[in-house]
Formats: sequence, C-alpha cells, structure tokens
Amino acid sequence: DAADLQGLRRGRLRIAAVTTTEYFLPDLLGPFARQYPGIEIELAVENRASVVARLQRGDDELAAMMLPPTHLPLARWPFLENPLVLIAPAGHPLAARRRLKLADLVTEPLLAREAGSGTRAAAEQAFSEQGVDWPPRMALGSNEAVKHAVRAGLGLAVLSRHTLAADPASEGLAVLPVAGFPLRRHWQLVWRNDRALSLPARTLLDDLRARLHVRARPAT
Ligand code: PGA
Repeated sequence: DAADLQGLRRGRLRIAAVTTTEYFLPDLLGPFARQYPGIEIELAVENRASVVARLQRGDDELAAMMLPPTHLPLARWPFLENPLVLIAPAGHPLAARRRLKLADLVTEPLLAREAGSGTRAAAEQAFSEQGVDWPPRMALGSNEAVKHAVRAGLGLAVLSRHTLAADPASEGLAVLPVAGFPLRRHWQLVWRNDRALSLPARTLLDDLRARLHVRARPAT
C-alpha cells in the first residue's frame, strides 16, 4: 500500500558480510538495489569475529555468514551452498594425484586465514574431526592473500570454492581431490529475532527468497 511504498522510497539498510561473501553477495543485491534506488545500502565486509561483534552490538539488520554464533537470539536462513576446498599451486605433484587423504597432505605447509576467520574455524574443525594435526605455517589476513601465497608455492590452504575462478587453473591453482572434501557448508543470512526488521530488510529477504531457489549452485 501507499505507506509501504513510502517506507521503501528512502531509507538505509545495513548489512554485515563475512569476507568470502564479497565474491557473490554484491551480485545478489543487484535487483533489490536497482528496484529501490532510494534505499542506501551499507555492506560491511569483515571476518567472522567482527561480524559476530557487529551482530552483538546490533550495528546491522542482516548478516551473511557461514557459522552464526549460538549465544545470540538469531533467525537464520541458509541461502547458498558453501563448499570449502583444499587448494594447491597448479603444478604441484599432489595436484596430479587422483585421490588423496588428508593425512597425505600434512607434511606440506598449511596456509590459513587469520584467527577470527570462519573459514579457518571450519577447516580446523574438519581436521580435528578427522583426527589430523595440521597447524598452520602462516596466517594471512584475506582470501586473496591466501590465494597468492598458495600460487607462489608457500603451501596449501582451505578456502571457499567461491573465492576461486570457475577454472582455478586460470589463476594458477588446483583443487585437490581429498577424501572428505569439499566440506559441505552453507551461507546463511541471519538477523536478530529480538528486534523488528525494517521494511527494506524484509523486502530484501523476500526478493532473495523469490530468486534464490532457482539459482545455479557453484561448481565444486
Ligand atoms: P571469513 O568468512 O573466513 O571471512 O570469516 C567465512 C565465515 O565466517 O563464514
């Protein structure tokens, strides 16, 4: 109705997003952003620990992340698969193998995201579930820094498939065929269920719900 229309003519929508979602989230916001040009969207892109702190303070209405915290009252909607893969430089001997076990890799240096990263937490959890002790040799503060270091031959890493090109070889990287990988995780949109969502936030959720069930899944 007219009041609803008014509520979407002007306004602000604050969204927090973990770093890995920067590879696809701006795309997903496109149709909403074009339909409601008066809504100013602020997308904060930070690691998991920062996004959790923002949710705790109530800085944003929506957050996109893989591992929502359990200590906050949150509603959640898993909206996209997030396969986590093990990567090596394209020419690495391990990249020529047809099947690998995690235990075959642990003599190689492991490159990890910084402490506070959800990607790192998910990788550590998977290693401990498989009984593998593989401490990182180096921590790097962004997905791109990890990719560059792997390409430069400094070690192997676990990253979201979303951080890689459709053909990883085109960027000098290979996805290793390791048993138990890709880790099948999901991206979730979360919001505080102890607060009312604004009209712009509800409208964006409706828009994404209407479009995402037909969206192609990323290759693994
Ligand atoms: P991050 O993102 O590694 O940038 O924290 C992944 C996540 O937290 O889900």
